[in-house]
Amino acid sequence: MKIVKLLLGVAIALSAGSISAQTIKIGFITSYSGLNGNLGPYMERAVRLYIKMHEKELPPGVKIELITRDDTGPNPDKAKQLAQELIVRDKVDLIAGVIFTPNAMSIAPLATEAKKPFVIMNAGTAVITTRSPYIARTSFTLWQSSYPMGQWAAKKFKRAYTLVSDFGPGHDAETAFTQAFKEGGGTVLANVRVPLQNPDWAAYMQRVKDAKPDTLFVFIPAGKTATAVMKNFSDLGLDKAGIKLIGPGDITTDEELPNMGDVALGVTTMFHYSAAADRPANKAFVAAWKKEYGANEVPNFLSVGSWDGMALIFEMIKQQKGKLDPDRSMEIAKGWKFANSPRGPISIDPETRDIIQNEYLREVRRVGGQLVNVELETFATAVKDPWKEQQKKK
Ligand code: PHB
Repeated sequence: MKIVKLLLGVAIALSAGSISAQTIKIGFITSYSGLNGNLGPYMERAVRLYIKMHEKELPPGVKIELITRDDTGPNPDKAKQLAQELIVRDKVDLIAGVIFTPNAMSIAPLATEAKKPFVIMNAGTAVITTRSPYIARTSFTLWQSSYPMGQWAAKKFKRAYTLVSDFGPGHDAETAFTQAFKEGGGTVLANVRVPLQNPDWAAYMQRVKDAKPDTLFVFIPAGKTATAVMKNFSDLGLDKAGIKLIGPGDITTDEELPNMGDVALGVTTMFHYSAAADRPANKAFVAAWKKEYGANEVPNFLSVGSWDGMALIFEMIKQQKGKLDPDRSMEIAKGWKFANSPRGPISIDPETRDIIQNEYLREVRRVGGQLVNVELETFATAVKDPWKEQQKKK
């Protein structure tokens, strides 16, 4: 009898909200299998680390439940199905994650229909954020890196060749680089697109070598594909032929550098994040990462997109004291500023819900026996997605 009374008391207390046990459910979709399936954990680890280190800042009684799902690589049908289940069956409050553009595009209409804020932590094709008013992006766009890369390259080289994976972010990287390189007075010998899955790299690299450009600009979706590019570039002797390899930072993704070897030395890239950056917020982030996951582990750009994405979600939760309203959450996202991102200061553009961030010119060097992306200079500060800026003028 006593126990029944006690339980009843707890139930009343709970319903009255005196003990507000509130769980925020995040449906987290990324790739744990398929093309570059090793990248998913770089995102999940960042999200879990952020929660662990910042949980105490949540309003009293508020908990976060992360529901993780594998979209199996670039697979829009699968991603859509997972998002649907997370919304309808698991009743998530938000959707987050997503490496690949086609997957983000297929989830966007569901976010709109169900009014679920969708925090994109990687996928980087410029147009994605226009596909739903419930999207905010904490990663990057390919225009943000590849347009300044073209500006820089035009000052160094006369003849460029571009090679990109044939899907959204590759098309953006190609267009942005080509436009800036031509504006700077350079000539683009060829714009070649390669299949996203298993291209015959040796054949493509031979064609590049035969064309004798000064520089080869490459975009591929990071991960193991980046190492395949580097290996074939070296095996076909493009480095020895004096062709300079450049691109957005996806081609020298931090965690693959040890697998690439010396061919990566001197490769120049434009990007928003390097694990080797020496700003204090990054040093603290990398130290926390190593403490949690092991001394030989490094975070990468997918990790920082996810870390900052969680910082945004925490801001939504804190400002609303744990009771999330989707439209209010999006208002909080618009104009959110985060001075302490490991990549330097960032904010969300209130007009586009896309990220504003610095772009760094980097070069792969050996430091203390390890290959790292050394930031040589802050090439551009507070960069808005150049594609959207151009659309405004049209
Ligand atoms: C994308 O699909 O948008 C994507 C994937 C991998 C990257 C960059 C962009 O490295």
